[in-house]
Amino acid sequence: MDITKVVIPVAGWGTRSLPATKNIPKEMLPIYKKPVVQYVVEEAIQTGLTDVIFVNNQNKKIIEDHFDYNFILENLLERKGKPELLKEIRDVAEMANIISVRQKLQLGLGHAVLCAREVVKNEPFAVMVGDDLMFGVDPGIQQLVDVAKAERMAVVGVVEVPQEKVDRYGIINGEEYVPGIFRVRSVVEKPAVEDAPSRMAIVGRYVLTPEVFDHLDKVEPGVGGEIQLTDALERLAAENRLLAVRMRGRRFDAGDWAEYLTANIYFALQDEELRDGLVANLLELLPCK
Ligand code: UTP
Repeated sequence: MDITKVVIPVAGWGTRSLPATKNIPKEMLPIYKKPVVQYVVEEAIQTGLTDVIFVNNQNKKIIEDHFDYNFILENLLERKGKPELLKEIRDVAEMANIISVRQKLQLGLGHAVLCAREVVKNEPFAVMVGDDLMFGVDPGIQQLVDVAKAERMAVVGVVEVPQEKVDRYGIINGEEYVPGIFRVRSVVEKPAVEDAPSRMAIVGRYVLTPEVFDHLDKVEPGVGGEIQLTDALERLAAENRLLAVRMRGRRFDAGDWAEYLTANIYFALQDEELRDGLVANLLELLPCK
């Protein structure tokens, strides 16, 4: 089974990130030197996913533009003799085939995935949420692609979250049949803390089979009036057609300010030129000083 397509929904309004996201998509907010969505696309490319399908809205053209040439800027960098920056800018334009589809009304993540149906056609495909970052030894989505290919089934990425945070996620109920891989029996979206079947939370990485589109087509609006991807996953689980993989690595939800800022520091600390000055500044800011 070959998997080359990745759907990246970026059509949400990012209300948690307002006012920064009034006119800038939250996926374009920078984390250190790159916009959030570039890290997501790089993870896809490292996994061998070559066709990137953005599900966007009318204000998000800037995301496609980021993955295209900018000849005026390239000319300028050429004239100014900045070949390294020029290469970096061009590499972004050349990293993937970009396909865009519109989600005309923001009816939820499940609906956003359904908008990609005509482009995905009848193939297994990956879904990566455009503001969820995963870093580790292996690219996050690679960990799911490997299992999906071996088991020929849909796979979701999960991480263990503290009990008091289960009500923010889709939570799985399943059994771990080999270390790190679960057979999913059911999925529940944002359960009350006392009702959650486990602490294994679905994060923004999926490999799905095309049958999910038929389920999404029939899903009624669920929690928050949105067409939830979780409801379609629940149907796959009921048919014993869904696995979950415990993801290895560090995750950042860029829609959450504390995590967004931590991700910036995480990357900046890896830059040797910045590190010492940054640490000195941070120490100075600490209230105990
Ligand atoms: P979120 O729930 O984090 O996105 O959806 P949001 O609605 O933009 O943000 P908040 O909660 O109001 O701050 C996860 C991903 O799904 C996309 C978003 O762009 C985000 O990348 N999404 C969400 C869509 O593409 N369409 C939708 O209708 C909803």
